[in-house]
Order: sequence, then C-alpha cells, then structure tokens
Amino acid sequence: MILAPSILSADFARLGEEIAAAERGGAGVVHVDVMDGHFVPNLTIGPPVVKSIRRTTRLPLDCHLMIEDADRYLDAFVDAGADWISLHVEAVPHLERAVSHLGKRGVKRGVVLNPATPLVTLEEILPELDYVLIMSVNPGFGGQSFLPASLDKIRRLRALVTARGLPTRIEVDGGIGPDNIRAVVQAGVEIVVAGSAVFGGGDPEGAARRLIEAAA
Ligand code: DX5
Ligand code: ZN
Repeated sequence: MILAPSILSADFARLGEEIAAAERGGAGVVHVDVMDGHFVPNLTIGPPVVKSIRRTTRLPLDCHLMIEDADRYLDAFVDAGADWISLHVEAVPHLERAVSHLGKRGVKRGVVLNPATPLVTLEEILPELDYVLIMSVNPGFGGQSFLPASLDKIRRLRALVTARGLPTRIEVDGGIGPDNIRAVVQAGVEIVVAGSAVFGGGDPEGAARRLIEAAA
C-alpha cells in the first residue's frame, strides 16, 4: 500500500514543510488536486505550483486533474514535473488520444471515475492505463464522508483487472481515514489518497504513520 497525501488540506504557505513531514511519516506519493471551478465547484492550483513542489520533494507527483478540457493542459503539467497524471472520463471527449499522449510523454497514465460513473466506461481503455482512480466522494472538496458503495466498486474493479490479467493499479480518493483505510486496501486498492486525515490535525508525520499502521 502506498499512501498519497492530498495537499489540498495542507497549509499552502508551508507546503514544502508539510510535504516533508508527510514523507517522514511514510508517504510514497504526493497527490495534487487540480480544480478549475468548472468541472468541480472549487479552484485550486496549476502548473506553477507543481513546478515549485517538484523542487521540494523526490516523491512522485500524482496530479489529479479535475478540469474541463484536461487534454489541453497535459503538456503544461508534464513540463512542470508531474510523474503521474489522471483524467476524469467525464471531462475528456477523446480519452484514448489523451491517454496515449501521456504515455508518449513518459508519465503514468490514470483515469478517474466519479462515484456515479460505472466501471463499464473503462472497458476499452483499461489495458492502456497504469492506474484507475476510484472517487469515493464527489470531487471538489476535502473532508467529505466516504461513500460506502465505493467498496463494492473497488472489489469489482479488482476482479476485472485480475480477470483480464492486467498490471493496472487501483487508487482511491475521498473520505479515507484510520477507520476505513484497511477496508479499502482489503478490497483491492494499492494507492490510498488522504487529505484531511494527513494534514487536518497539525501533525502530518504522525498522521501518515498512523494511517499506514491502520492499513496493515
Ligand atoms: C477531492 C479530492 C481529494 C481530497 C481528499 O475532490 O480529489 O483528493 O483532497 O480529501 P479527504 O481525504 O479529506 O477526503
Ligand atoms: Zn484527488
């Protein structure tokens, strides 16, 4: 299991220190939530911030694009230092083209499904992906409650990936904390995003460590 703290809940004025603390606690990836105020009702950060974060950590940067026309911005995020990029199936009309472009640029290719978006939308693109991100809240904000139906969706995706013999990894995002992290890992998740559970309590190092312990 890889813990991917979401910096959405961090103190943006002290981002470098916050990320370093989460890394000391065992974080393996930094999850960067990019929101445009259109695809989701919130605005966050863009490529210049990714570029600054890139200089502060050696951890892979996992950019979760919650933006319309995401395909127009892929190069900007790759150039800024993204290592993994995920796109919402709901936000990109020509998903195969966008995913193939990510592959050519040498970053990990991810696709994200909102809670109400069915797994069948992955049918054709699945073999082209390095990871699938299952949203366990409706995207837009940190600190929301985990939607329990996500567990069965993760199990069904794990079964699909196994049945097709694919190396695709499964990531989950939204409402994860010490009480449910073990359940999502048992359901088949390998990469766990956690925002408020890592950065919400003022001790990202200890919180990350406790989450990793709770997952085992
Ligand atoms: C929500 C974001 C999440 C968010 C998770 O739209 O994609 O990454 O930061 O926050 P928590 O872990 O607090 O639900
Ligand atoms: Zn996210």
